[in-house]
Amino acid sequence: MTFDLIIQNATLFDGHCTDIAITGERIAAVESGIAAETGKTIDVGNRLVSQPFVDPHFHMDATLSYGIPRRNTSGTLFEGIRLWGELKPLLTHDAVRERALRYCDWAAAQGLLAIRSHVDVCDDRLLALDALIEVRSEIASYIDLQLVAFPQDGHHRSPNGHMNLLRALDRGADVIGGIPHFEQTMADGTQSVIDLCRLAEERGLPVDLHCDETDDPMSRHIEQLVAETRRRGMAGRVTGSHLTSMHGMDSYYVSKLLPMMAEAGVAAILNPLVNIVIQGRQESYPRRRGLARVPEMIAHGIAVGWGQDCVLDPWYSLGKADMLDVAHMGLHVAQMTSLDDIRHCFRMVTEVNAQIMGLNEFGLQPGKLASMVVLDANSAEDAVRLRAERLMVISRGRIIARRPGGTISLDLPGRPSEVTLRHTVPDQDSAHQ
Ligand code: FE2
Repeated sequence: MTFDLIIQNATLFDGHCTDIAITGERIAAVESGIAAETGKTIDVGNRLVSQPFVDPHFHMDATLSYGIPRRNTSGTLFEGIRLWGELKPLLTHDAVRERALRYCDWAAAQGLLAIRSHVDVCDDRLLALDALIEVRSEIASYIDLQLVAFPQDGHHRSPNGHMNLLRALDRGADVIGGIPHFEQTMADGTQSVIDLCRLAEERGLPVDLHCDETDDPMSRHIEQLVAETRRRGMAGRVTGSHLTSMHGMDSYYVSKLLPMMAEAGVAAILNPLVNIVIQGRQESYPRRRGLARVPEMIAHGIAVGWGQDCVLDPWYSLGKADMLDVAHMGLHVAQMTSLDDIRHCFRMVTEVNAQIMGLNEFGLQPGKLASMVVLDANSAEDAVRLRAERLMVISRGRIIARRPGGTISLDLPGRPSEVTLRHTVPDQDSAHQ
């Protein structure tokens, strides 16, 4: 057999070590001892090789704009929305495109090869949407970008919210967005969920709403989203994003809500980096964490993913396109620190997020796209702990990023001259010393 590229000694998520052979854009074989007659061979020395990272919740129209025209001083969601309102008239097609492409360079370098970005469509010019549609085709050979038509100022509250949403879909947005908790009344929020789901049913599109991103435990638009999903038979293509009100909801009510979400097939995307700093700002102490009930949702069989939401924009002054940062923060806030939970958090930012976005071409099996990441770690749990360096990123059979990584030189009396931060957790059976 001849292959274009063979990755030797790759440790997979399940811990077994193997070779991966690539022909063209596809994985040709995953087995030990693949012999290379031709083509390139790279030995990754038992390091973890994973399917790519996936971010199902981002705002690419705002990214890398932190400080323009000013910084968010209160740190609240609402100052962020006001600040974005000040920035919007200043946006130009070229500036949005340039910032988005720069962000996608970071994403590619971090092995983040699929992104769902909400795009504000309340500006009548639809300038950001047009710029990101251009970016979507420019990066299509290495990053899958899905664009959500997102009426940031409210589907009903914004004067042209509905019309602009339709225009955005006609221009090629992939997903229907909304923000029911930002409508003027609870009733308007409910109506927006009904209208947006009806539109999704008519057009055969997925729905992904900013849903209940508030500390108000009575914000329950998720309930309507679940009911509409079920009524219209849209299981598997509806997502509630953020869902922070669930943190403060009455537990009796949540015990009714979670089984309904699971039955309806509604997925959840939580954004721990951003919501841990935005939520609870109006409270004294004790302060709620503002993250939905992640382990409980997972236990009910709901598809739950971690999203990044923001990087260097009006809402968040940090970030670097690193889904391991997201998983690391998420597991802390959600108290998911058992070994199984840490490993599941790695799956959330890879496999589960891909499933929520409807991407079935990712995965390290023969026939799937040859897209993968080599991490400077030997296991998924260590990758999360270290937020491990991405040593190599392959997209559709092509190496698109490399970084040396490896050991660090030390100069300490009586200590080794090199150190690595990698660590292997011993098996339960051998952990008696
Ligand atoms: Fe968001």
